[in-house]
Amino acid sequence: MQHNILLTGASGYLGGSLLAEWSSAKLPPHGKLYALIRSDVQAAAVQKLGAEAIWLDTSNAESVRQCIVEHQITVVLWLINALRSEGQLALIHALAEVKRATGRDVYLIHTSGAKLFSSHAGAPTDGPLLDSAADLYDIQKAQAIATNNAVIEVGDAEDVGTYIFVPPIVYGKGKGFGNTISIQTTAIVRAARAQRRVHSVDEGRPTWPVCHIDDNTSLYLQLVRRILDGSQPPSGKNGYYLAASGSVVWEELYAAMAEALAQRGEVEDSRVERASDDALAGMAAALGSPKEFVAFQLGGLCTFTAQQGEHIGWKPSYAAEHILKASDDEVQGILDYLKDAEPPSKSFGT
Ligand SMILES: NC(=O)c1ccc[n+]([C@@H]2O[C@H](COP(=O)([O-])OP(=O)(O)OC[C@H]3O[C@@H](n4cnc5c(N)ncnc54)[C@H](OP(=O)(O)O)[C@@H]3O)[C@@H](O)[C@H]2O)c1
Repeated sequence: MQHNILLTGASGYLGGSLLAEWSSAKLPPHGKLYALIRSDVQAAAVQKLGAEAIWLDTSNAESVRQCIVEHQITVVLWLINALRSEGQLALIHALAEVKRATGRDVYLIHTSGAKLFSSHAGAPTDGPLLDSAADLYDIQKAQAIATNNAVIEVGDAEDVGTYIFVPPIVYGKGKGFGNTISIQTTAIVRAARAQRRVHSVDEGRPTWPVCHIDDNTSLYLQLVRRILDGSQPPSGKNGYYLAASGSVVWEELYAAMAEALAQRGEVEDSRVERASDDALAGMAAALGSPKEFVAFQLGGLCTFTAQQGEHIGWKPSYAAEHILKASDDEVQGILDYLKDAEPPSKSFGT
């Protein structure tokens, strides 16, 4: 029996880009690809891309159980909400039931975010924090990162292979049929437009890991490839995978984006200023978050460093500095998208 796979978040930026690349990725033979959807339009879109649509309320554990068992799903990719865990835990329990019934190995890839490995969440930042570090689970345990820890612990208890996939600042036009812009760079644009200026939110020159959307997609695909070919990539307490080719200095990213915004008349000029209290209040209103959350969304220090991807054969194509060269296109893509569409869902990314 081949693995049947469920992809969630297929109308999103990360999940849509992944679905768009799926059929040309030359993955090992597998069973059906299902995609979780929430509308008829989404159902038609995923079908066009070779996936079978599934409607499912992931907050209902019994519906999740029935769906996973009925479709004999053995691999789930979770790309919905990085901070809540009830859907993933229900999926893990359901996968375990399939395993007990069929003897097949079962897997869940949980999409987290780099914020949970940063200064914002109390992660160590005094040197590189490797995604391959043997004590990373203990570090996350000490940080009390509820979702990541619960996914690993329940996965271990149920003998389900779990992976914590960590996108950082992801940039580049998404390839999906739904949202094509990234949470993080869009937050910079929204805050800047509201204040007619790009503001920095931190002392010093903190850095953050970064990844082009195509590289982010190719790490998901490489992980799936290794699962499907039976090579059992490290999972559970050793299963953290950061998608990053390096890091960017926030100040340099702000400056590049400010230049692009100024050229389009979206800000007064290309200078980046330190946010005053008033500016923070305006930025918070534009981001739809409390003032205290602005720095959480637009800055911070994250020394999380990717190694695991390389160990499973992933090679990013874009160097970290590429985001600075690509900022003009990024800003244009965001402005075009915002003109035509509603804002993407308000999940706190990275
Ligand atoms: N983009 C980044 O740079 C980034 C970085 C780090 C972490 N992340 C995390 O990665 C995840 C995906 O990010 P994204 O950028 O792809 O987000 P996105 O573009 O906002 O997409 C979110 C996806 O989740 C779906 N969704 C939301 N609530 C759902 C629910 N209750 N049931 C079923 N589907 C639901 C949305 O479906 P609808 O279209 O129907 O709303 C959409 O397909 C998020 O947790 C995000 O925080 C993203």
